[in-house]
Amino acid sequence: MNHIKGTTRVCGLIGNPVAHSVSPVIHNTLADLMGIDLVYATFKVNADDIEAAVKGAYALDILGMNVTVPHKQAVMDTLVDIDPLARAIGAVNTLQRVDGGYKGYNTDILGLERELEEEHIDIKGRDVVILGAGGAARSIAFLCAKKEAASVTLLNRTLKNGQDIADSVNNFFKKDVTRAAALASADDLSISDYVVIQTTSVGLFPNVDDVAVPDGVFYEKAAVGVDIIYNPSQTKFMKIMSSHGKAAYNGSKMLLYQGVAAFEIWNGCKVSSADAAKVYRALNIAD
Ligand code: ATR
Repeated sequence: MNHIKGTTRVCGLIGNPVAHSVSPVIHNTLADLMGIDLVYATFKVNADDIEAAVKGAYALDILGMNVTVPHKQAVMDTLVDIDPLARAIGAVNTLQRVDGGYKGYNTDILGLERELEEEHIDIKGRDVVILGAGGAARSIAFLCAKKEAASVTLLNRTLKNGQDIADSVNNFFKKDVTRAAALASADDLSISDYVVIQTTSVGLFPNVDDVAVPDGVFYEKAAVGVDIIYNPSQTKFMKIMSSHGKAAYNGSKMLLYQGVAAFEIWNGCKVSSADAAKVYRALNIAD
């Protein structure tokens, strides 16, 4: 980063807040490792200013942007093109500079896709249970249907939120693969040997002893779990899975790979596993 020159391209993150973001570490480390003349900064943008920010970024020749909370939906109105899956999900977190403006992608799901591959969790033909029905669950339900899961069950406190996601996924893929059920019915599922993806905010630091589904049959019937939370690095959900002898992973690799996928889109490059591993170490997240 001490090498900013006249030729250095700028990328950045728009959101509010942005100060906590680890994305600058991901992208600036990748640029250093790969010898790419790029710098990444954060830009705090108010909701009223999104259009001005995206237009301004284009005028300033900014190469690419990440978009985070609360702008992932609203930013879509400012784009000249949107990847079809990101459009269906209804959330964009990565902007690629193209002729006349930016094209939107959703690399959050690419991040989870790569984490699952790395942990050898093959979704195709599997039953998947998603805990939660917020923005992350929505993206993940689309990913699981795209990966041809045998079934996707959204378990959520508010049944309607799960039902809305199930309807959108089923409409998009034109098959009846996704359904919603109440979180309280977790122990009564008719499926077993399922992959669980934990997307609720329950268990996030500092509430590290909280869990969306209390210990019970649900865990005994599960095969493997992923919690998208990475702070703490071992959530209560993961601990209960482990106590039943089931592997459970946190969301740190998903975080890493959503950044890697964005970096690849902006620079038209492929980040090696070795470089990705170095960035992961730079993030300093406990395993
Ligand atoms: P994100 O964008 O990270 O997915 P979100 O959209 O705020 O975050 O979604 C949070 C999810 O956690 C929701 O599914 C929410 O359930 P509701 O749809 O019923 O609100 C779930 N959640 C939050 N607090 C919860 C709690 N105490 N018990 C169960 N689920 C909870």
